[in-house]
Amino acid sequence: MARSGKATVIGAGFYGSTTAQRLAEYDIFAEVVLTDIRDGWSEGLALDLNSSRPVEGFETTVVGKTTTVDGGGYEVIADSDVVVITAGLPRKPGMSRMDLLEVNAKIVRGVAENIAKYAPNAVIVVVSNPLDEMTRLTQLASGFPPSRVIGQAGMLDTARFTYFVADKLGLPVSGVKTLTLGSHGDTMVPVPSACTVTQDGVTKPLTDVLSRAEIDAIVERVRGGGAEVVALLKTGSAYYAPSAAAAAMVKAVATDSGAVMPVCAWTTGQYGISGVYLGVEAKLGKTGVREVVERPLTADEITQLRAAAEAVRAKSADVAGL
Ligand code: APR
Repeated sequence: MARSGKATVIGAGFYGSTTAQRLAEYDIFAEVVLTDIRDGWSEGLALDLNSSRPVEGFETTVVGKTTTVDGGGYEVIADSDVVVITAGLPRKPGMSRMDLLEVNAKIVRGVAENIAKYAPNAVIVVVSNPLDEMTRLTQLASGFPPSRVIGQAGMLDTARFTYFVADKLGLPVSGVKTLTLGSHGDTMVPVPSACTVTQDGVTKPLTDVLSRAEIDAIVERVRGGGAEVVALLKTGSAYYAPSAAAAAMVKAVATDSGAVMPVCAWTTGQYGISGVYLGVEAKLGKTGVREVVERPLTADEITQLRAAAEAVRAKSADVAGL
């Protein structure tokens, strides 16, 4: 099998290391690079991951490199096709993602500037929180066109939504399709009108299978899905589902698949919304976002989506100065 291309993950904490593992185990890349400012940490993880290759049966080479905030070591990311930014603090119990804004803005700005310098043609996938604002900041700090900077949130929120519905109905997750749009936070917009359930070969709208109250309860759980994990873990935040979501986006970009995924993308008039990073569906390929895809929404869903856009816009205006 021909392996090609290079994917880099910046930040080798829980999210970054599991993303690198998933990307390496896809066995489609020539090289997966993992970096962190913790001295020796990335090198140690790369050694460990490479040693798993004979057992897992993948040939992608994993390279670990300790970097400094002023760009030391960043030459290792040269010629990356895709770079994932996971650097930054995770939430503690009781914190909102927005509580991370100032501290993570400093980290993400520095990382984005170094990516622009050392991998100027890459597509960047941002996962650090608060997600929508960090995606905008990365685009500003890198100077990349908005189409080459994408945030990961919708894939994760949708995965949680799908799992909660499947679990409630006792169905395989493959029999449930869901969608979330909007922000990765309080103004997340789960879209019941786009959700379907397939039982015994028959596909029905979710609204035919669950009552309004049951759907509302699941929607609330999706909105608080990350916080639910944080509260249980007590230290750190979710990373298995998040890394699965980020890796799927990287794969879609690297393979130029044209897959349509819910991601945080720059809006240019879709749903009447412009000039803000927001959770929407987008077709992904080698150039990043090929196009934002619109679908029919109910009047209530559009109102919620526009409110989400304004909430993110207000916060994103602040990030330029952070
Ligand atoms: N450059 C590279 N790595 C950095 C930098 C930097 N400037 N600053 C911090 N890091 C690294 C830390 O050393 C740590 O290894 O980022 C890593 C973060 O890892 P964790 O603390 O385990 O956090 P994680 O769960 O991986 O979450 C990372 O994703 O979901 C979001 O809210 C979450 O913003 C957080 C990010």
